[in-house]
Order: sequence, then C-alpha cells, then structure tokens
Amino acid sequence: MVLGLQWGDEGKGKILDVMAGEADWVFRAQGGNNAGHTVEIGRAKYVLHLVPSGILRSGVSCLIAGGAVVDPAGLVGEIQGLHERGIRTRGRLHLASQAHLVLPHHRAVDQGSEKKRGQGKIGTTGRGIGPAYADKAARVGLRAGELALSASELSRRIRDRIRIHNTVAGIQGWEKIAPAPVLREIQQAAKILRPYLCDGVALAHNVLASGKKVLIEGAQGTFLDVDHGTYPYVTSSHCTAGGACTGTGVPPTAIRKVVGVLKAYTTRVGSGPFITEDGMLGHLLHGMGREFGSTTGRARRCGWFDAVLVRRAVRLNGVTELAMTNLDGLDGLEKIPVCTGYRLKGKILREPPVEASVWERCRPVYRIFPGWCEPTTEARHWRDLPAKARSYLLALSKLVGAPLGILSVGAGREQTFRHG
Ligand code: IMP
Repeated sequence: MVLGLQWGDEGKGKILDVMAGEADWVFRAQGGNNAGHTVEIGRAKYVLHLVPSGILRSGVSCLIAGGAVVDPAGLVGEIQGLHERGIRTRGRLHLASQAHLVLPHHRAVDQGSEKKRGQGKIGTTGRGIGPAYADKAARVGLRAGELALSASELSRRIRDRIRIHNTVAGIQGWEKIAPAPVLREIQQAAKILRPYLCDGVALAHNVLASGKKVLIEGAQGTFLDVDHGTYPYVTSSHCTAGGACTGTGVPPTAIRKVVGVLKAYTTRVGSGPFITEDGMLGHLLHGMGREFGSTTGRARRCGWFDAVLVRRAVRLNGVTELAMTNLDGLDGLEKIPVCTGYRLKGKILREPPVEASVWERCRPVYRIFPGWCEPTTEARHWRDLPAKARSYLLALSKLVGAPLGILSVGAGREQTFRHG
C-alpha cells in the first residue's frame, strides 16, 4: 500500500509508477478527480486524476475501487486522453460498481458553499468531491453500477436528484442545474464506461487469491483524512491505511507493506493550519517552477519538514518504510530547519493538537540542519548523495520513527533509488 504522509502532493504518482514496475495490479482506494498524479516518462508528462498511474505500465491492470468517487465525464476524458497517447485501457482498467458518482450538481454545491464561506473557505478543488461523499453518507448517492441501468431509468434517477438540488439551490444560493445537458453527458459517458464496470470487491479478492502482486494507492494525504486530518480543512474521504482497506475491500491482514510517501519539506494547498509554512521557501520553490498543483494549477503553500506531523502519520498508517521525494528542492540551502515540537503557551507538544484553531496558535520548535549546497539530481544511488544530505535524511527517519526505503531526487523514473 502506498499513502501520503503529509497534506497530499507528496509525489505518490511517481513512487507508484516506479513500484508498479513490480506489480500486476494497482487499486485506487478513495478520493476522486480532486487528486492529480504527475508522472514523467522520458519527455512525456502524464497528469492522471482518477486512473491509477499503473496504467502507464503495459503489464499492469488497474481498479478504481468502491471507495473512490467518480465524475463520469472526467473519467471518460482521462480514458480518451490515454487512448490518444496509445495507452490501451479496455481489459486493463476496471471501475467498481460500488464507487459513487460525482454529478454536476455536486460541483455546484461545492463551489457555491465555498463562495458562501468567504474567508473561512476550505479551499477545495471545486470538483464536487465533498458533496458526493455527503450524499453517499446520507444514502442518497448514485453509484457507478447505475450507469448500466436502462437509459430511461438512469435518466429518471438523475432528474430526480437534480429536481431536489434545484429546490434547495434556491434557498442556499447554489447554481441551479439544467437537466437536459446533464442527462446527455451522463448517457454518453455511461455508454463508454459500462464495459469497465465490475464488482470491485469480488475482483480484488479474486486477484489476491490468484497470488498476483497488488499495490493499493491512497489519494491525497494523511492530514486531509476526514477523521485524522486538520478538520474541517480536509477532504471528505479516508486517506489513511484504514481507508485504503475500506475503500478496496482488501482486509488489513492482507497488507504486507505500507510505504509512506513524503517530501523532504512540506506543502499544502487550500486553507488550514500549517505551522512550518515559510514564505521564503515558497518563493524559492515557486521560482524553480515547482510546487504548483496538478489539478488546479494553484501555487502550493510551502514550509519546512514537520516531524511532529509525520511521526503521527507513521503511527496512524503503520508505515513500514518511507519514500522520501523532492530532496532536490532543498539543494541550494545553507541551513534547513526541521520542526521537532510545537510550542503552545510555554509548553512543548509532541503530538499535533486536535483542534485546527489550537494548531494555528502553535509555534514550531526547530532543529537546524546544515544544507549540502550542491545538486542531488544526478544521484542514482544512496552513496551518490552528499554526506550532509544523507545525514539529513537519516535524522528525519529517526525523528519520525520509520526506516528509509525509496529516495527521489527529480521527476524522472531514473531519479529514484533505494536507501543503502
Ligand atoms: P476537496 O477534496 O476538493 O473537497 O478539497 C478539500 C481539501 O483537500 C482542500 O484543501 C484541497 O486543496 C485538498 N486536496 C484535495 N485533493 C488534493 C490532492 O490531491 N492534493 C493536495 N490537496 C488536495
């Protein structure tokens, strides 16, 4: 299983792409097209939102599992984009009938609610993810399997949801939805997506029983988890190890390895506490053309490595090894602060606070590491890294309580190697 240990965008797409070289299957556990995985292969750059990046490896099959939420038109667009680049999906990509659908009225609610929140906005991707999960929990959602219904029954169910939406939209100030174009769009998408539908849980269990190697991909990151993140500044699914099991139907006892992906510093997009945020570091990284969101293009907020946060993530997910990315982002720095504790009213906290408002009042306690001030992008082995970079990585591993596994010093597949 591969999960993000910070606020998403840790480089999971890249790590998954590398690990998929040894896998038969990749299952995407949760989230929707709020996620964006960027994979660079040679000169080609692929940005995937819903389809697991394993699809870029010809021998790998992929499942979008029941814990995910799927925007039908968005998924069709992604499939078509892959076909245009010569990547086959039929017979390789499978969509769990259990996955819930994200429909245009969910986007209207997401965007309308954010507008209403004003300064207090969550900073969502505006893709309708929260409202789709809210409908799922309220037991009024539509599931991917319903795309296989007769055209008239599917239209009836969608029209019904839009009618209810439009009634409430008047009161809430959300955009109203015209049913006809939505019905046309969904019917077209349904035709294309039907052959991909399956019982996601039966498929997962059959694949496991046949002894195939499976990678489970968690989207977003631990601190965007609806239960364990910086609530309410979170996404609406479970981005942690437990969520990966619930989302795929794979039992915890079947998980052998939990790879926690993390950056050598920290970023987040959207609002919410981020006590190691540092404008200078952001300026530096943005100036290097990095840390812009692959889904929304937003400049990510940037800050120093937060060991308090990651130590919690390591425990929450039962991480067995770390995959540390973006080390090269720190190459030019003479001094690198790392947060080892939170200071609150004269006390030092070793665990992150429960309340986002308390979290925002904490101040970081930093330990300063010497920078290596030389490029790491050409490193292909652990021994190629500057001694100070190796010391920095080993210290982080010790602080968070998990061993180093994979290191990444650039976007290319070849810029990834194992520790030791
Ligand atoms: P939503 O998932 O669109 O509802 O957004 C909720 C929060 O999660 C916002 O802060 C988003 O910026 C953040 N978020 C959602 N998906 C991702 C992701 O893939 N990477 C990083 N942040 C994300």
